[in-house]
Amino acid sequence: MKAIGIVTSGGDAPGMNATIRAVTRVAAFKGFNVLGFCRGWEGLISDLVKPMSARSVSGIINLGGTILHTTRCPHIRTKAGLAKAAARLAEYDVDGLVVIGGDGSFRAAMALSELTDTPMVGIPATIDNDIYGTDETVGFDTAVNTAVAEIDKIRDTAISLDRIFVVEVMGRSRGFLAAMVGLTVGAEIILVPELPVREDEIFSVIKDNVSKGKRSAIIVAAEGIGDTRALSSAIEKNTGLETRLSILGYAQRGGSPTARSRYLASEFGKKAVELLAEGKSNCIVGLQNGKITSIGLRESAGASKPLDESILRLASILAT
Ligand code: F6P
Repeated sequence: MKAIGIVTSGGDAPGMNATIRAVTRVAAFKGFNVLGFCRGWEGLISDLVKPMSARSVSGIINLGGTILHTTRCPHIRTKAGLAKAAARLAEYDVDGLVVIGGDGSFRAAMALSELTDTPMVGIPATIDNDIYGTDETVGFDTAVNTAVAEIDKIRDTAISLDRIFVVEVMGRSRGFLAAMVGLTVGAEIILVPELPVREDEIFSVIKDNVSKGKRSAIIVAAEGIGDTRALSSAIEKNTGLETRLSILGYAQRGGSPTARSRYLASEFGKKAVELLAEGKSNCIVGLQNGKITSIGLRESAGASKPLDESILRLASILAT
């Protein structure tokens, strides 16, 4: 019987388990054996493998994290690590590998694809939503909702004490999470790495708001903009308003996936298995204009996903 391998790699994202479940069950439905490689690429290199079945993925659709565990595996970035991984794929005789993760995972898959004929399909799962070839990644919606729930609470304090809050959200070097969170919490200012804003412009917006009677503000800042603690101090010094920094951190990456993240996980999982069953290789699945699609791994890894700046323009109009 044919076999499919699954690996979750890099940072965890809510919905990875729902993705594992979908891949495993669709594969089982199509008559494939399924092998789960544990602890990311390390599992493939070091033989940490377990058989998966429709039953072994019971009760995980609602769980955060990944039951296969994951690592940021430095070994896979070396020639020796890649060679070992390629050799293991041949030994396990898998007919395809589903790689669930973000851009680092896909870069590794691409490097590996040069040493093996085993077809690989990537499923974008990262809270950063920074993968070219998909409008949305598994986990993004959950992270947005987690951040929104936290910032709604912070808003209570901001209003009650007339304070400015700089709220730092994740996103690595990109601003997709900050932009969507900022829009949906009604942030007065959104700061993303893609569109740098000078500090004096930030002070002016705050002072202008004060002149209009608005004495509190939420500033959603992507972690990629730099030192948010220094920014927070500078705002207090230059506006005279009490300013606090709140770093939301890893809470954004955990927790039960939203229905939306579970939906994408299910559709992406199905599509990945279908692609492998059709003999397609070295691509990633994605959502483009409401349709489940796929593009080449190389095309995705070689391009930078543009940020939809209209979100920032709308947020700014709505924050007046
Ligand atoms: O890629 C997901 C992410 O959570 C980023 O938003 C963040 O910058 C990074 O991972 C943190 O990585 P680590 O888990 O290695 O600290």
